[in-house]
Amino acid sequence: MIEIANDATCVEGVNLADIAARYGTPCYVYSRAALTAAFGAYRAALAGRPARICYAVKANSNLAILNIFAKLGAGFDIVSGGELARVIAAGGDPGKVVFSGVGKSREEMRQALAAGIYCFNVESANELEHLNATAGEIGKRAPIALRVNPDVDPKTHPYISTGLKSAKFGVPFETAVELYRRARDLPYLEIRGIACHIGSQLLDPQPAADAAAKVIELVDRLGAEGIQFAHIDLGGGMGIRYRDEAALPTADYLAPMLKCIEDRTEMLLVEPGRSLVGNAGLLLTRVEILKHGEEKNFAVVDAAMNDLARPALYDAYHDIQKVGAGKTALGSKTYEIVGPICESGDFLGHDRELALAEGDLLAILSAGAYGMAMSSNYNTRPRVAEVMVDGTTTHLIRRRETVAELFAGEAVLP
Ligand code: LLP
Repeated sequence: MIEIANDATCVEGVNLADIAARYGTPCYVYSRAALTAAFGAYRAALAGRPARICYAVKANSNLAILNIFAKLGAGFDIVSGGELARVIAAGGDPGKVVFSGVGKSREEMRQALAAGIYCFNVESANELEHLNATAGEIGKRAPIALRVNPDVDPKTHPYISTGLKSAKFGVPFETAVELYRRARDLPYLEIRGIACHIGSQLLDPQPAADAAAKVIELVDRLGAEGIQFAHIDLGGGMGIRYRDEAALPTADYLAPMLKCIEDRTEMLLVEPGRSLVGNAGLLLTRVEILKHGEEKNFAVVDAAMNDLARPALYDAYHDIQKVGAGKTALGSKTYEIVGPICESGDFLGHDRELALAEGDLLAILSAGAYGMAMSSNYNTRPRVAEVMVDGTTTHLIRRRETVAELFAGEAVLP
């Protein structure tokens, strides 16, 4: 659905050069067909058992994307009151929302209770008490799952690994039984499930299967005490191909995990983010200046670390392709692809072999997840436009910010 060819780079039936001419650069470009296909792969893999796909909103929270998934029947995994407001604004069903996160405020708890979300994924003993008290104040019972920490090593980047004992996430396995007993005794809580999420960009399916097996053991132990669950939430985390990673097809990645729970009657929840949107989006940027230094060649583009933070933050690799033939047939050189921001960490790619001229367009691939969602206004740079391609049609799904908007909420002293 995103095709790189010598003479044109197309997203579905639309040429990226036409998108740049119409909407300007930089801009994020998404493929509706790719989003739909990624969702369909999960649906097919989970067919035949009770299951719900709760899209992790943090990966990309644009209303158009949420709306596409809502129409496909998705639930949502949120981590803030802001994300809940987005889900509702996009036509998502709050009754299919799970609320994760280690630091939910009382206000966010009230907001989620009023909206009637499906479940709070509670991450600490104190949160259990706060939630019970907050629910009591408004005379509602809060549906809960405990997010348990299975202490498995997901073998991914340390910044996005969450299931080890040393992580701030979840409650330790050993204390889960005691906490479920406590939850059962609290008057304004209703136990609905159990949750676990071990990390992100996971390529090996085994850690997720190991975590599932541990969770099932715990479910059985709790069952023996009469604590039963409507659902088991096994989180997100499936990795995608950025470069040459051996990312498995969705069904193959999920198979070992599904094997662990094949006899269970509880509804399975999954919380995929990256694997639904990552390869359905790219960042389109233009080469502003070529700078040939003594040691390195730099291609300074109009996108920067504030638009796509992953390279600067995690040293993440994103494939970068020239769009179309460009202006020149010059031979290729090795370039540092950098942005205009005043930091040495402002790079989008190192050592890329490309034949470039100023004015050429570049597509930074696999940027649909944690791209726009993590963008900022650093250097007073307006956040970029977002465009959705649907067949041969394009839709502006977020207009470019203006500079005036960036300081509209500020005030100087009288
Ligand atoms: N559920 C929970 C509780 C999570 O914390 C996350 C991601 C997900 C689901 C979705 O995980 P996914 O399927 O996308 O792997 N900014 C980083 C990724 C941070 C992931 C945080 N949690 C990046 O750009 O790689």
